[in-house]
Amino acid sequence: MSDNVNQPLNHDDIRTFEPQDNCLDGKTILVTGAGDGIGRIAALTYARYGATVLLLGRTTSKLEAVYDEIESLGAKQPAMLPMDLEKATYAEMQQLEGLIVKEIGQLDGVLHNAGLLGELTPLEMYDVDTFEKVMKVNFTATFMLTQALLPLLKDAANGSIVFTSSTVGTHPRAFWGAYALSKQAVEGMSDIFTQETQNTTRLRFNCINPGGTRTNMRAHAFPGENPMSLKTPEDIMAGYVCLMSDDSIGVRGQVIALQPKD
Ligand SMILES: NC(=O)c1ccc[n+]([C@@H]2O[C@H](COP(=O)([O-])OP(=O)(O)OC[C@H]3O[C@@H](n4cnc5c(N)ncnc54)[C@H](OP(=O)(O)O)[C@@H]3O)[C@@H](O)[C@H]2O)c1
Repeated sequence: MSDNVNQPLNHDDIRTFEPQDNCLDGKTILVTGAGDGIGRIAALTYARYGATVLLLGRTTSKLEAVYDEIESLGAKQPAMLPMDLEKATYAEMQQLEGLIVKEIGQLDGVLHNAGLLGELTPLEMYDVDTFEKVMKVNFTATFMLTQALLPLLKDAANGSIVFTSSTVGTHPRAFWGAYALSKQAVEGMSDIFTQETQNTTRLRFNCINPGGTRTNMRAHAFPGENPMSLKTPEDIMAGYVCLMSDDSIGVRGQVIALQPKD
C-alpha cells in the first residue's frame, strides 16, 4: 500500500514538529490514562488542534475535570470512557468498540498512554501480584484494547496507533522489573503489528518514549530529583501531535525518543 509520496518525517522532524492550527480537525482520538500526567495534557492538546477526544481512564473525577477543561476551551465535545485497564475484560473492550461505532462512528487514533510503575526492586524479590498488575495495565490490556478497536481503526483514512515506551523499555535496566519488561514487550508488539499490517492497511503503529517528564510517576521513580529540572508534558507535545496528524503518514514501526539524551 503506498503512503504519501513525500519522504516520511525523521525523528528530529517529529520532535521539533510545528503543528498547523486544526491539524487534527475531523479526527477522533482515544487517549488512555487521560485523567492525569502526560495523558491529560495530550488529551487537551489534541482537542486544541481540533480532534474529538475520547477520554479513557480509571478515575472518573479526573476524567470529568479534563472533560470540563476541554469544554471551556470551546473545543469539540469530548467523551468519557471510564475503564480500569487492570480489571477490564476483552468483552468490555469489544463493547467499547461497539459504543464508539454507535455513538461516534469513527476512530482515527489511539494514544496508549496509561501506565503503572510498579516496584523498583530486583526481579529476585519482585512481588508477583504487582508484576501481573503492571504487565496487565502496561502491556496485556494495551494489546487487548488495540485488537478490539482494530476493525474501527482500519476503516480510518489514515489511522495512527501510538504506544508509550520508556528508555528502560528500549534498554532494560536493573531494578526496573515489570515496568521495563512491559515496555520492552510494547515495543515488540508495535514492531509485530507493523510487520503484519504494513502491506494491507494504511493504519500505522509507532512507539513514543517521552523521556523524563514532570509527572507523579516520575516523582515516584526519582524521589530525590528536582522536578523543576524536568520538561513538563506541555514541553513534549510536538511529537504527540505529529504522530496523530497526517504529517506523519509514512512513519511506521518507529520508537521515537522525544528526549534522546535522557
Ligand atoms: N513521566 C515520565 O518521565 C515518563 C518517562 C517514560 C515513560 N513514561 C510513560 O508515559 C506514560 C504516562 O506516564 P505519566 O508520567 O503521565 O504517569 P502518571 O502521571 O502516573 O499517569 C498515568 C496515567 O495512567 C492511568 N492509569 C494507571 N493505571 C490505570 C488503569 N488500571 N486503568 C486506566 N488508567 C490507568 C492513571 O490514572 P489515574 O490518574 O486515575 O491513576 C494516569 O492517568 C506511561 O505509560 C509511562 O510509563 C513516562
